[in-house]
Amino acid sequence: MDTESQSGSQAELRQPQPARAQHAAQVEHAQHPERGAAALATLLSRRSVPALQLHGPGPRDAEVDTAIDAALHAPDHGLLRPWRFVVIRGAARERLSELFVRRMLERDPTIPEGKVHKARSQPLAAQVVIAVGARILREHKVPELEQLLSTGAAVMNLLNAFHAQGYGAIWLTGGNAYDPQIAAALGFAADERCLGFVYVGSADTATREADAPRVEADARRVQRGAIAREWTG
Ligand SMILES: Cc1cc2nc3c(=O)[nH]c(=O)nc-3n(C[C@H](O)[C@H](O)[C@H](O)COP(=O)(O)O)c2cc1C
Repeated sequence: MDTESQSGSQAELRQPQPARAQHAAQVEHAQHPERGAAALATLLSRRSVPALQLHGPGPRDAEVDTAIDAALHAPDHGLLRPWRFVVIRGAARERLSELFVRRMLERDPTIPEGKVHKARSQPLAAQVVIAVGARILREHKVPELEQLLSTGAAVMNLLNAFHAQGYGAIWLTGGNAYDPQIAAALGFAADERCLGFVYVGSADTATREADAPRVEADARRVQRGAIAREWTG
């Protein structure tokens, strides 16, 4: 806190103040503490589901819209709205699959068939694919890195929103994500970058249950000291 705001808050303390309006989140938590607990349980149970393990049914249009709404709640320095989402569903997935294969072979005619097969199959296994992108402003007072971070945060919200609605999802990149011709075919403008694809669909309960011990194991394995610590000044 800087000196100016400190003296401001000291002055505030001296004045009799009307009851402060409670922040909406505080009100929500006071009235429905179980909702917060459920939201946290959802965050703590998210795992990515490999795209080839996804299947139907996929999220309904309204559920996709909700996930994108969640993405739009990402922190956004300067309110630049750098995020871009291109939703690919239904028969368009087949065209995406063909586009991936064509471009992979054009980039490298000797590419192993296994890789081509995987890229061809992923958009078909997933029921909805969302190409995520960012419009990064150069020479802006908000550094480019922060604009990219905001996009990452938006994609995280997207993944969590699909998980909260009962779907599996995964964010994948690779050569196709960074291929300018694929980005152009998907309608990304010249000043927009494609940052990957979020694959979404249903995931087998067995897959999710099989993942549960992994979640616990991960939590135990994580060396918290290396990634989360306290600074006491
Ligand atoms: C920006 C970004 C790009 C990624 N690209 C790939 C990828 O191309 N291939 C892959 O196997 N995993 C990729 N991942 C990792 C998966 O999305 C996923 O996080 C990983 O499989 C671990 O699963 P978890 O999310 O359950 O921890 C990427 C993750 C991020 C954040």
